[in-house]
Amino acid sequence: MPQNTDALLPIMTGQAVIPVIVLDDAKDAVPLARALVAGGLPAIEITLRTDAALESIRRVAAEVPDAVVGAGTILNARQFDQAVEAGSKFIVSPGLSPELIDAAEGGPVPLLPGAVTASEIMAALEEGYCLLKFFPAEQAGGAAYLKSLSSPFGAVKFCPTGGVSAANATDYLSLPNVLCVGGSWVAPKDAVMAGDWARITALSKEAAALK
Ligand code: 3PG
Repeated sequence: MPQNTDALLPIMTGQAVIPVIVLDDAKDAVPLARALVAGGLPAIEITLRTDAALESIRRVAAEVPDAVVGAGTILNARQFDQAVEAGSKFIVSPGLSPELIDAAEGGPVPLLPGAVTASEIMAALEEGYCLLKFFPAEQAGGAAYLKSLSSPFGAVKFCPTGGVSAANATDYLSLPNVLCVGGSWVAPKDAVMAGDWARITALSKEAAALK
């Protein structure tokens, strides 16, 4: 069964930047999500890199109806299932594995898996996956590398993340094979720790206006 692009495409085309969130304390999840939504970035990716992640997803799904909460850094089927159970509307993985493809198979929650090399992209295409994350974008070769993938893989569209910032986001967004970018710069750790939600809304507004 191919990728659930009907569910994923509106998320990837709906906003230029998908915030990539690392939360140490679930109490910050709801005000942070509200701040991002207020800035025009409703789709947010909460990464499973901390113990607070699943509870954070649960709270945002329950308490911020305007947010489209997704889970990131999903590495296996167990995490996929946990993230879906918590209320995730989309799932992001740094790579692609048969186990994750099976977990996503036929389900309503779409998987955005990562691929960087030509062989990884071909493996994704064989599974019916044409919407991919490109991670770690800057370190893997940046916008120039990603641009060079657009001629052999014209049907594949990417969300580059990793080292993407306000300074270089438009380098990616201007590529024909990029729908959106992901990044943590719109929710800096110090702003979250300080509860400076106004700053996060301001950063989100700037990011939402990028083209
Ligand atoms: C990701 O998982 O997409 C990246 O870790 C985000 O990278 P950044 O912190 O460099 O934006």
